[in-house]
Amino acid sequence: MDAQVRRIAKVVEPQQVLEGAGVRLRRSIGGWDLDYLDPFLLLDHFDSDDPDDYRLGFPLHPHRGIETVTYMLSGHVDHKDTLGNAGAIGPGDLQWMTSGGGIMHEEMPRVEPGRNNGFQLWVNMPARLKMSQPRYQDVQADAVPVVARPDGTTIRVIAGTVDDVHGPIAALYAEPEYLDVEVGPSGTVELPVVAGHSAFAYVFEGAGWFGPGAGDDAPLPAPQLAVLGDGDVVRAEAGVVGLRFLLVSGAPLGEPIARYGPFVMNTREELQQALDDLRAGTFVWTPARGTQAG
Ligand code: CO
Repeated sequence: MDAQVRRIAKVVEPQQVLEGAGVRLRRSIGGWDLDYLDPFLLLDHFDSDDPDDYRLGFPLHPHRGIETVTYMLSGHVDHKDTLGNAGAIGPGDLQWMTSGGGIMHEEMPRVEPGRNNGFQLWVNMPARLKMSQPRYQDVQADAVPVVARPDGTTIRVIAGTVDDVHGPIAALYAEPEYLDVEVGPSGTVELPVVAGHSAFAYVFEGAGWFGPGAGDDAPLPAPQLAVLGDGDVVRAEAGVVGLRFLLVSGAPLGEPIARYGPFVMNTREELQQALDDLRAGTFVWTPARGTQAG
């Protein structure tokens, strides 16, 4: 059977939001236009060379029921959490944080010259694992393999497999693929994606087309998110200035979603439990609690 090339199902214009203690960022999943793309609950892009846009950062806050993925292009985010992790996420680095049944952390963009530019993606967890042990995967830039194709396309493989090269992030519940794809002027790239998985392309530099052919439409310019319809191949064609995008896909959970800020559970009662646990000081997961709620 011929490969089925995914077409754009919906274009999302990122909305400007203030998040954390007052960080200005662009939200394309988790906003008015696209509440979620199962299993992806949120995609934020922060990009500024003005410290006033980010200096207040994300002081200590809880998460439950999700994974948060931070990927930096430039600048640093200093972080620490209740698992005892502390460090910095720098250019090309990423942090894949599985909150499971409860973690508290702080994420503070470092005030320094230049741009503070990066992404945070939220991946939902299945009901059976929402109250599980938190986990933390810290990946330095030099541990992210770069596939350099003969035509000049480069693909940073964060999660998933491209041309038999495996990304460093493994054993995640949604079997996600997370790629940073850079295509030269007027170049073309084709990448396999599992049929049936939700997929999106977030264009953050240049412009390009997604689908079987360039067509007559104008290329999709940065910053825009394209939700991709089903198929087993993603094909992108760069405009004359080139194209850089995140390509992210994962298995949809098909479970009910109840969300309140940093908690994403399945029912209102579980959200209330999270708030009760916070008030009672029992929010953070401990080995004694195991995978049981409360
Ligand atoms: Co957080």
